Amino acid sequence: MSEKWLTGTVTENRHWTETLFSLRVEGARPRYEAGQFVRIALDTVEGDAASRVARAFSLVNPPDDPVLEFYGVIVPEGPLSPRLAKLQPGDALYVAPNPAGFLVLSEVPDAETLWLVATGTGLAPFLSILRTATPWRRFKNVVLVHAARYASELTYGELIRASAARYVTFVSREPAPGSLAGRIPAAIADGRLEKAAGLPLAPQSSHVMLCGNPQMLRDATAALAARGMRKHRRRASGHITVESFW
Ligand SMILES: Cc1cc2nc3c(=O)[nH]c(=O)nc-3n(C[C@H](O)[C@H](O)[C@H](O)COP(=O)(O)OP(=O)(O)OC[C@H]3O[C@@H](n4cnc5c(N)ncnc54)[C@H](O)[C@@H]3O)c2cc1C
Ligand SMILES: NC(=O)c1ccc[n+]([C@@H]2O[C@H](COP(=O)([O-])OP(=O)(O)OC[C@H]3O[C@@H](n4cnc5c(N)ncnc54)[C@H](OP(=O)(O)O)[C@@H]3O)[C@@H](O)[C@H]2O)c1
Repeated sequence: MSEKWLTGTVTENRHWTETLFSLRVEGARPRYEAGQFVRIALDTVEGDAASRVARAFSLVNPPDDPVLEFYGVIVPEGPLSPRLAKLQPGDALYVAPNPAGFLVLSEVPDAETLWLVATGTGLAPFLSILRTATPWRRFKNVVLVHAARYASELTYGELIRASAARYVTFVSREPAPGSLAGRIPAAIADGRLEKAAGLPLAPQSSHVMLCGNPQMLRDATAALAARGMRKHRRRASGHITVESFW
């Protein structure tokens, strides 16, 4: 592989639940904009053959924080995520030198309200964005929406509540006081999301950034289209920006 990888050192691996973890990594400092992702990798040695297994991960920390943070879920049959979850302080993690991605505020047109809408670990890029000055300078309102299967998976709540964002949560697989039930697209369609945020979700006022489960992105985009919103393109301004995790 000709790419020059940076080598970071794991300083912490926090386990929120049996499946969710956050890795902190020092010593690798790629340049990026809040909301971007970078490939991270580990080596596998089988017999005499060594290979590097790499996957895209969003950067959770704001760009001016020198300690990189990644937020992951264990996909039990996955080649990389179970191994990331087992990393210990002192272990090496390879980080690609070239972060990328368009889920960034420099690609988002002005609006009154910025909606940051995530399922599961799709929360990660929004945590970086929330901790920069840009959203507060550019948008009158910022709403952070996080959907998880179980209440224990509504991670990083403390950090989100410490920001000026309005925080709306969904828990889909158990009753959870304080969270909406069901899924995000249905709550866009029937007005529950607007009601919970106390703000209109309309093309005149809103830009929506969606991240996480690809089917959620499709279903939410369809629900937003029914409200007259369309995907944003550089050459045709719109109201929706998406990033799919698989
Ligand atoms: C742009 C981008 C950014 C990403 N950022 C993150 C991130 O910040 N955190 C993160 O955990 N993952 C992120 N991912 C997914 C990540 O790259 C891996 O796919 C994931 O860590 C699983 O890796 P794996 O090798 O174990 O399994 P893989 O072979 O990569 O995936 C196997 C299957 O697991 C499911 N899956 C993959 N990722 C997730 C996920 N995050 N949540 C639920 N189900 C999933 C899908 O069904 C997928 O087909 C991102 C992906 C992309 C494309
Ligand atoms: N979370 C766990 O308990 C758990 C445990 C073991 C392993 N895993 C692994 O992690 C992966 C799942 O991770 P995850 O729970 O973070 O992600 P997820 O399956 O994407 O679920 C996160 C949230 O997104 C919702 N969602 C799913 N499809 C949607 C759609 N089309 N529209 C709107 N919302 C939608 C889910 O609701 P629904 O509940 O209605 O689907 C849930 O509230 C699996 O691949 C599995 O291998 C997860």
